[in-house]
Amino acid sequence: MIPSVAQSRAARTLHEIYTSGRPLAYIRSSEELRIGRLLASLGLPLWTWSLTAGLQTAGAEPIPGTTDPRAALDFLIAHPHPAIFHLKDFHEPLRDSPAVRRRLRDVESACFDRQKFTVITSPVRAIPDELDRSLVFVELRPPDEVELAAFLHDEHPTTPPALLSQFARALKGLTLDEARYALRRALALQPTLSPASLPALLEEKRLLVNRSGVIEFLSTPTNVNEIGGLEGLKKWLFERQRLFELRDEVNSEIVPKGVLLMGIPGCGKSLSVKAIASCFGLPLYRMDMNAIFSGRHGKPEVVFAETCRMMEEMAPAVLWFDEIENAVSTQTVGGESGRMFGFFLTWMQEKTRGLFVAATANRIDVLPAELLRKGRFDEVFFVDLPLDEERLDIFRIHLERRGVPVDGLDLPQLTQFTAGWSGAEVEQCVVSAITKAKLADRPLNLQDLITTAVSIVSLSRTMKEQISHIRAWAFERAVRASPPPSRASKPLL
Ligand SMILES: Nc1ncnc2c1ncn2[C@@H]1O[C@H](COP(=O)(O)OP(=O)(O)OP(=O)(O)O)[C@@H](O)[C@H]1O
Ligand SMILES: [Mg+2]
Repeated sequence: MIPSVAQSRAARTLHEIYTSGRPLAYIRSSEELRIGRLLASLGLPLWTWSLTAGLQTAGAEPIPGTTDPRAALDFLIAHPHPAIFHLKDFHEPLRDSPAVRRRLRDVESACFDRQKFTVITSPVRAIPDELDRSLVFVELRPPDEVELAAFLHDEHPTTPPALLSQFARALKGLTLDEARYALRRALALQPTLSPASLPALLEEKRLLVNRSGVIEFLSTPTNVNEIGGLEGLKKWLFERQRLFELRDEVNSEIVPKGVLLMGIPGCGKSLSVKAIASCFGLPLYRMDMNAIFSGRHGKPEVVFAETCRMMEEMAPAVLWFDEIENAVSTQTVGGESGRMFGFFLTWMQEKTRGLFVAATANRIDVLPAELLRKGRFDEVFFVDLPLDEERLDIFRIHLERRGVPVDGLDLPQLTQFTAGWSGAEVEQCVVSAITKAKLADRPLNLQDLITTAVSIVSLSRTMKEQISHIRAWAFERAVRASPPPSRASKPLL
């Protein structure tokens, strides 16, 4: 079936406003072409106005004298038939002329219930106070899949219908203008659209999120096997993977919506988030809280909310909030983070079901209790220092990754030298030992690892107090990502 723009979310919104009988709407958007398409899909004759051309319908000459905004309003008030009037950038005459402001209020009463619908579009919201109540203000969200598929079909009618929806999904989050660039980029590489065009389409999306300055697209796939230990987390993940795949068929309550990983630095929180994205087969985006708080992109709470909304359009995807305590901390003074937190809690409940949120936190004692309450995240995991057997697993992973076979190495000997180490420290030990062996021009042996290990002072030793504190705090509030320590396992510190 050929997709129709009239079925799109945006067209339905406009249709609802029109049928509710409100004669005046103000849409903040710079996508005039898109709005033209949407308005045309409502099925009434469409007139457009601009300061340079005046008022005209498709294929006809402009009405003489209507470049004057006041004359244009006079014309549409007198117009005897049902119609839609699209006034481009009309915020300027509204700002400059009291007579135009007055006349627009006349439009409201003259067009009420006459099937005449006037829509102002502007890239900015600039509504004079006295008109605030007369105009319905609309902020259109980016095109949905239906609108994108209809657009792709119009631009490239030979595209097979099966590909249309696949491409539309890939383009979600882009404006129609951006989608057009993406399409041209793909067509420049290959004159016919095929599944091989997808990477070129996605590239535009990557550029878009990078342009926002607060979202980073992470493209390094990480296999769950690259995580040592954390079996509890892995088991949970595999179960959720299946539910996530079924998200369009199952009850929304059981669709995985997010996970919070908190714990000790360097123990695999970031690594796990990357593995979650790969396990779900989804792109991973990271929200840069520092960039949001820098104020470079606007008021932090506004940027935060806008970015969260924009990311819904990127679904299905994993959105990672690193160091989420910065956004929601109870210790930050002032209303800003309080408002952000309030927004975040509501948003977590409402967001589209294809967007999975992964949040990570170190300073967990500053996290507000509401965030940890059941129902916000599907699970709150505590990522502790790895147990003996987990550290061995991490040694194995990092040695093998660097091409060192572990068969001949008696790794369990290392446990006694590495009590209280983080995964990052295990990795550091492996790298130093391999470097040492390389410099001596011989294969690595266990002694290299032991000598390096004894020279490393682990963070948990220097931060003993803090770590005990974090652990005590997390004990009641989170599920351990690792299995409980066995009797055979040495004390962690
Ligand atoms: N469980 C683990 N398995 C394998 N490697 C690990 C593990 N934990 C840590 N590492 C290694 O240490 C590095 C740092 O870990 P990661 O960035 O995931 O820690 P983190 O918990 O996010 O720390 P931070 O709180 O400092 O952000 C990883 O890139 C990985 O190479
Ligand atoms: Mg991290």
